[in-house]
Amino acid sequence: QTSSASTGDLTTEILQALSQKDPINSTEAFPQIPFESIKAALDRLASRSMVKYEQIEREEAFLEPEAEIIVSHGSHEARVFDAVHKALEGLSIQDLEKEIGDKTVTKLGQGKAFKEKWIKKDGSKLVALVDSINDVTRDQLRVIKETKTHDAKIIADLKKRKLLKLQKVISFTIHKAEKFALEMVKEETDLTAEMLASGAWKEATFKPYNFKALGADQHAGALHPLNKVRSEFRQIFFEMGFTEMPTNQFVESGFWNFDTLFVPQQHPARDLQDTFYVSDPPKAGRPTATGPDDKADYEEYFKNVQQVHQDGKYDSIGYRYPWAEDESLRLVLRTHTTSVSAAMLHKLAQQKDENGRVPPARYFSIDRVFRNETVDATHLCEFHQVEGVIADYGLTLGGLMEFMDMFFGAMGVTDLRYKPAYNPYTEPSMEIFSHHKGLNKLIEIGNSGIFRPEMLEAMGLPRDLRVFGFGLSLERPTMIKYGISNIRELLGHQVDLSFVQKNPAVRFDK
Ligand code: PHE
Repeated sequence: QTSSASTGDLTTEILQALSQKDPINSTEAFPQIPFESIKAALDRLASRSMVKYEQIEREEAFLEPEAEIIVSHGSHEARVFDAVHKALEGLSIQDLEKEIGDKTVTKLGQGKAFKEKWIKKDGSKLVALVDSINDVTRDQLRVIKETKTHDAKIIADLKKRKLLKLQKVISFTIHKAEKFALEMVKEETDLTAEMLASGAWKEATFKPYNFKALGADQHAGALHPLNKVRSEFRQIFFEMGFTEMPTNQFVESGFWNFDTLFVPQQHPARDLQDTFYVSDPPKAGRPTATGPDDKADYEEYFKNVQQVHQDGKYDSIGYRYPWAEDESLRLVLRTHTTSVSAAMLHKLAQQKDENGRVPPARYFSIDRVFRNETVDATHLCEFHQVEGVIADYGLTLGGLMEFMDMFFGAMGVTDLRYKPAYNPYTEPSMEIFSHHKGLNKLIEIGNSGIFRPEMLEAMGLPRDLRVFGFGLSLERPTMIKYGISNIRELLGHQVDLSFVQKNPAVRFDK
């Protein structure tokens, strides 16, 4: 027996021990080996039906240091008796203390010896009452030291006197089983072509499948949370009959980003503090056809936009300021994807039939936008905007609210609240709020409205066509769904890649 046997050697040792004696007890046969190693070896043998075993749990008693002293020197009371008995004339308490050499032992032993009627006080001296005594405590402790156990009452008593501690000990009774042998058979893990060809499979022992084994970690690519939430939104849009807008152009002219949306040229959103301008090339060309199929009259549209801003048109009095073409042709990093919505609605106007009608349409996009913001926990200079546009006849503000309830409801966001707001391009406009459980307050989750006639009629869309528009950031719902409070953990150079890798492929929180 070796104390450091690996489980490989241990299985052989167990088989050998069993061939001599059946059953064996593991603590008797292998006293030095921890029970975990024995159990591992037994499990390997048992899975091959070579052994059977039962686990036995019992409590063993171990002597405390004080009890060890009693075993070697006798109990306190016996030591007191011996000292008193030895001194034929009796002993004073001071002499007894000197003799024993320990104040506590003397005090405790004296008390017990009095109680047992072994000694008595005679004047100032202690004298013995009997000739000999039985040191019961020492005898009991000797038995326990030897066998680790004793009568339950005695054990309880000695434990109360703090002479023992009890420890749970696990051992095994091991028996031979059907396939007992002296060696563990090699188990095959695979059925190979060679085994089939040679017939060796008939004799082979196969390792049973371990259906409890965990799969190995897969080092595969991982989708970023933003991408996952983005595909959820896309799916919702597709299910609601939307088509996706082309958002591959990050640089726009002020014309598409602002002017088409009836944002006046002095509007603060157009300030350097809010918008990134592109200096090279210095300016955009005037809007022109985007391809051979594009038959729109862009010159007319350009002029319509100028007129509606500067002088008013379509029953609107306009802003009445001198509209500057240069301002309109400045290049910007798009501040919203509504620039793309404007281009798409302008294209929709080209589908007018002979009755001046355009078909109803639903467009959406999810892509990057840029704003000149100070970076903090909830703002970056770029983020992703989810944008939707619905064009139809007879649309109402109530309809927009109902649509928003359905749209956010599909994402699991319910109980929306609406607040009147202002956008240059929508009237009326509404900010959308939702109650955030974690923060326990209403937070803004989107912006929406009905596009103004100044914007739509300049494109040539029919007067009675109504167009809903709404926008939200992709980051905010992602942060809420993934429990992130700092946007820099989600986007940019500080992102922890293991966060991207480890977050679940599928969330069930909808
Ligand atoms: N462009 C708006 C924004 O950036 C969103 C919006 C789109 C609002 C369409 C109304 C209509 O917040």
